[in-house]
Amino acid sequence: MDSPFEILQLDPDADEDELVDAYRQRVKEAHPDHGGSADEFQSVRAAYEAIRAGYKPGDGEIELVGGDGSRVVNINSDADEGPSEDTGGTTESDGETSGGDGADANRKGTRVEYLDYDVLDEHGWSLGDENLFEKAAAEGLNTDAYGEVFVQPRTCLLKAVESDGHSWPYACRGGACANCAVAVVEGDMEMPANHVLSEEMMDHGIRLSCISHPTTDDLKVVYNIEHLPGLDELRLPPQHARNVRPND
Ligand code: FES
Repeated sequence: MDSPFEILQLDPDADEDELVDAYRQRVKEAHPDHGGSADEFQSVRAAYEAIRAGYKPGDGEIELVGGDGSRVVNINSDADEGPSEDTGGTTESDGETSGGDGADANRKGTRVEYLDYDVLDEHGWSLGDENLFEKAAAEGLNTDAYGEVFVQPRTCLLKAVESDGHSWPYACRGGACANCAVAVVEGDMEMPANHVLSEEMMDHGIRLSCISHPTTDDLKVVYNIEHLPGLDELRLPPQHARNVRPND
C-alpha cells in the first residue's frame, strides 16, 4: 500500500493547513459519486488519520481495523491503536454509550438533547428562539428528530449518537468539512482542532460533532445544519444516505 503521504499526494513537510487542504481535495476525488471507490475513500480517510495520529515517513503501512469502517488506524504491525477519542475512537470503547448493565448505565455521562434542523424549517422556528427545545418536546416528534442521548466522557458526539442507533450527516469524520456540524444551543463542546470553521461560527456555538465532545453535564444541540449559509460551502460529498437531501 502507498504511504499516507502518497495517498494524500502530500509533501511530508506539509503543515496542518496543507494536510487539511490535501485531505479535502483527495476525499472529493476518491468519493464513489465522483469516480472513486469505497476502498479508495477509506484509504484516504485512513491516511489522514494516520498523519494526524503522528505518522512519519518510514513508519510503515497503515490499515483500517474493523469491517464496519470503524475509526482505528494501525501504524506498523506492533503499533497501538489510534487515533485517540477525538476522531471517534474504537467501537469497543464508544460502545459503552449504548452498552452497560441496564438503563442506569446508559444514562451516565452528559445528557445531550438533540433536535433536527428540519423541524425548525417545518415550524418556522429559528436557532435563536427562546424555549426552542421546550417547543420541540411538546410536538411529540419521533426520536430521529428530537430526543436525548447520554455521552460518555471524551466521547465524540457523532459516535455516541450512532452508538445509540441514530444517523446524522457526516462525510470526512476528521474535522475537514461541515457535514457533521451542530449548533450548540445550551452547554458546551470542546473541539480539539479547527481548520474549517470561522471564528464567528465558533462564537455562535457551531461545532463539528465528529471530533467534539461535551464538556458540560447537559447539552442541547441542533443537528443537520450543514445547509446553513457558510457551512454549505464547507460540505464534502456526504457519506450518509438517510439524511441526504434531494439536491445532494
Ligand atoms: S464529518 Fe467532516 S468534519 Fe465531521
